[in-house]
Amino acid sequence: MQGRRYAAAARLGGWRAAGPGAAQLDLGGALAEIAVAEDGSVRLRAAPGMALPADPSEAVGRLPWRAAPAAFREREDGGLRLDQDGPEGAVRVEVDPAPFALRVRDRRGASLAELGELAFAADGAGRIRLAVSASERFFGFGERHGPLDRRGRREWLRNRDPALRSRDPMYLGIPFFLRLARGPGGICASGVLLDAFAPSHFDVAASDADAVVMESGGGGIDLCVFPGPRPADVLRRFTARVGRTPRPPRWALGHHQSRWGYGDERAIRRIASELRARRIPTDVLHLDIDHMRGYRVFSFDPKRFPDPKGLFADLAQQGFRAVVIVDPGVKVDPEWSVYRDGEQADAFCRCEDGRPYRLRVWPGESALPDFNRAAVREWWGEQHRPLLDAGVSGIWNDMNEPAGWSRDLRVGRVMLPIRGQDTSRMLQSDPCERGRVAHEQVRNLYGLQECRATRAFLESANPGRRPFVLSRSGHAGIQRYAAVWTGDNRSRWPDLRESIPMLLGLSLSGAAFCGADIGGFALSCSPELYARWIQLGALQPFARTHSMWLSRAQEPWSFGPRVEAIARQALCLRMRLMPYLYGLFCESEASGSPVWRPLFYEFPEDPDAAAVEDQLMLGPALLVAPVLERGARERELYLPPGVWIGWDDDARWVGPRRIRVAAALERTPIFARAGSLVATQSPVAHAGEAPEEPCVLEVFPGADGAAELWEDDGESTAYREGAAARTPLRLWHRAGGRLRVELGRREGDLELAERAVRVVVHACPAPRSVTLDGERLREGSAAPGYTAEEGRVQVRFADTGGGHSIEVDPAP
Ligand code: GLC
Repeated sequence: MQGRRYAAAARLGGWRAAGPGAAQLDLGGALAEIAVAEDGSVRLRAAPGMALPADPSEAVGRLPWRAAPAAFREREDGGLRLDQDGPEGAVRVEVDPAPFALRVRDRRGASLAELGELAFAADGAGRIRLAVSASERFFGFGERHGPLDRRGRREWLRNRDPALRSRDPMYLGIPFFLRLARGPGGICASGVLLDAFAPSHFDVAASDADAVVMESGGGGIDLCVFPGPRPADVLRRFTARVGRTPRPPRWALGHHQSRWGYGDERAIRRIASELRARRIPTDVLHLDIDHMRGYRVFSFDPKRFPDPKGLFADLAQQGFRAVVIVDPGVKVDPEWSVYRDGEQADAFCRCEDGRPYRLRVWPGESALPDFNRAAVREWWGEQHRPLLDAGVSGIWNDMNEPAGWSRDLRVGRVMLPIRGQDTSRMLQSDPCERGRVAHEQVRNLYGLQECRATRAFLESANPGRRPFVLSRSGHAGIQRYAAVWTGDNRSRWPDLRESIPMLLGLSLSGAAFCGADIGGFALSCSPELYARWIQLGALQPFARTHSMWLSRAQEPWSFGPRVEAIARQALCLRMRLMPYLYGLFCESEASGSPVWRPLFYEFPEDPDAAAVEDQLMLGPALLVAPVLERGARERELYLPPGVWIGWDDDARWVGPRRIRVAAALERTPIFARAGSLVATQSPVAHAGEAPEEPCVLEVFPGADGAAELWEDDGESTAYREGAAARTPLRLWHRAGGRLRVELGRREGDLELAERAVRVVVHACPAPRSVTLDGERLREGSAAPGYTAEEGRVQVRFADTGGGHSIEVDPAP
């Protein structure tokens, strides 16, 4: 960044082996360590001086490094070389001695990273240059405004509350990016994590088209290169390092309804009963800061929320879960036990001169816990107990950049920050707990460490249950602890449009469980904008409607009966897709794959797919092209190579091509990729309700395909011990339109009763014959049997879990 003077560390003076797959390098005044992992990921740590700082990885929740068994050897020119050829990846790592450079190549010899020009500033900040090619695209960096492809941008990652301005940085930066390069050998994706906790800076081929220049802001350099070649391979390796989204409880995948302004128990009860009376599927109700006594976290206002336990029990009766907001700012009030305890436990951050650090948030003057200390995290976790005892199911961590201000003006209910936050004299523990450092050095960890505390407590207080935590801020790996939402957006069309690249950027940065506030947080939403937003939002990984009290009401019925019906339809579709969506989360836990994916993630070879930023893939099967313009009743969209089938009209298209489709206010253009098998169910009011039809398999012929159906109890962690079921699904598409659908033998220890299954083959003419397990089926809606109507063949039978196959032979 401007203002720092850097001195180069440019010559390799000597080296020694430093354990398996690792070497320590003397760079004359600086020390570096290069480590290669079993999966081909390469880590470079470097710092000025004679010793590397303590490795903070584990202290911030990184996963153990699995070292490669290979060793570095010296080259003739004094440089080094290591070849790692393991089952998970093959890389060649080379070190040039002078000038010092680190090169990583993949199995095919394609360059994965060329790093050089390492330099350090007096305060320990490191800078390094990554050589890039002119055709490359760059994605990630967490939550960003603007385009998905970040080439040409200067990314400053300092987590902060942008206070409703469309300006980066935002609440949640992730110093990771995915590179998509096109070379003679085909597509090559790779990834880079600069694991800096201080605000970092990336010049993404902005000043120099051939380089990404990275600056850590402090603590030397800790950088990882993750090989591809496909984007999915990069994400698998990156998340093996920083962690993946643990399987969420199924209810957390339902719709969440929230508002800053549900001011008392009556308001919450009214929303709950309206949602049920109007049959609008919803699982979760959020309680914003309104519920607290004078904004004291962990408290309930005795007048407005006199009986939280009774309230949550009644909500549970109706199938609702409650999520409650927890801000890190603790009101300075010596009469109040949480503050007093925190003071006694020395849990709060202090200034350089030893005085307590204070900032202003909703409760006025507040103290901030120092979450980098394990004892403070534990203390903080304990404070949640009264919330759990009252029956709260999940915690919403807001304002955790941390956000606040140093002076405000209160006008009635409104609090106007009139001077921004000043953290310049604030200290925090360093994550290894070896002493206190300037807050700025560890600022970007604040939200992550808070969520880590919250999650750890929820896990210990409710053993065997899957917690739900939602966060506004975070760092690389936040997905291990929390789902994230994109903070305070506005009820405006550009904010709806921008939510797509923003959520895709987060998804590619590892945060799979993400969503934007449906309908927009600030300003008042129009009926049409709400309709379009809920259509898209209902397909977000995390689907929450939220708004602020100054804006018009934003419940699905607030916009008249037509829009209410649209909201119901959108949320019913989400509930129908629940088995598929749930499966995407199971896969994300297993492999780090995102739930929302840019088109290029599925079609990396297609250059046109990489430029699409207003469409997305929901998993591998469904392409969503939402309407993002006021008044639009049709939209143009891009279909990547292959056959596509309209989700609601079975129209068949062959890509690559641009098409224009009708999109009445009631319609969201969604296309299924030929060869996909999408597990659905009949819609339910909430995840806890048993669907009338638990297993409806939507099959889209036109290509071969495979998928999996993932099932478990949806709430406990018993799936980790095998109490889960996985059914392999296959589709064979044969010449002449014959097709075979196979539900493989169910794997896993989950006991499932025999159940009715309906297989729906889309875009399929009336067949000559349909067989189930080799036996010819009769036409009719009784099981076993099939119907053929309106271009769909539907087969009904009882699934025993032992494996079944269906053959459909078309009419001659
Ligand atoms: C912040 C949050 C918002 C919340 C409000 C009041 O602005 O981003 O979601 O409603 O604070 O708690």
